Amino acid sequence: MQSNDGKPSVVILISGTGSNMAKIVEMALQNEISAEISAVISNESNAPGIQYAKQQGISTQVVDHSSHETRSLFEKHLMRAIDEYQPDLVVLAGFMRILGAEFVRHYRGKMLNIHPSLLPKYQGLNTHQRALDAGDDQHGCTVHFVTEELDGGPSVIQASVSVEQGDTAETLKAKVQQKEHVIYPIAVKWFTEGRINMDGMGNVLFDGSPLPLQGVQLEP
Ligand code: GRF
Repeated sequence: MQSNDGKPSVVILISGTGSNMAKIVEMALQNEISAEISAVISNESNAPGIQYAKQQGISTQVVDHSSHETRSLFEKHLMRAIDEYQPDLVVLAGFMRILGAEFVRHYRGKMLNIHPSLLPKYQGLNTHQRALDAGDDQHGCTVHFVTEELDGGPSVIQASVSVEQGDTAETLKAKVQQKEHVIYPIAVKWFTEGRINMDGMGNVLFDGSPLPLQGVQLEP
């Protein structure tokens, strides 16, 4: 797992703000994660995260989904763009497109996503409101390997937040995002150090031992 300068190559996909991407970039630039962030790619030309990445001197590309006739053509183009950088790891960081089976299989075992819920709870959208509506007292976020099932791949690490009286979807989102910025860099670090991998059965191994279904739990 080595790119040209001896570090694993990571490509990050975003659609918007890119605060998770920025945290991972920051830690890589500070050598807290030993990885080369080879490129940041967005499907939205005006994603603010693209500007940030450029300012950090990282290669950026836009592969606009709306200028492709079909999802399959978009994904072919996206794969070509990603594979230019020969990544060891593809990081989905707020990438708001559903990815097809061929794409997902192409990066099997080397693509991570962050989802704003304690998976397997609340796959899909509106997770903060759904946690509130259900009266949950705990909510959180999960980094998981990407498989063909949307938000259904095996978990690597989770962090929880307490749902307090008066919390709204917005306040919960802010609390959860603080945790996202902690757990995503940890997961990327583990992957690039070769400490986690997904085996052929779809189990996550950590230092060679299977993790429980919900992954490592970050201590509060
Ligand atoms: C995060 O909340 C993440 O959980 C979800 O999309 C959001 C992206 O935020 N998948 P940002 O672009 O990293 O700020």
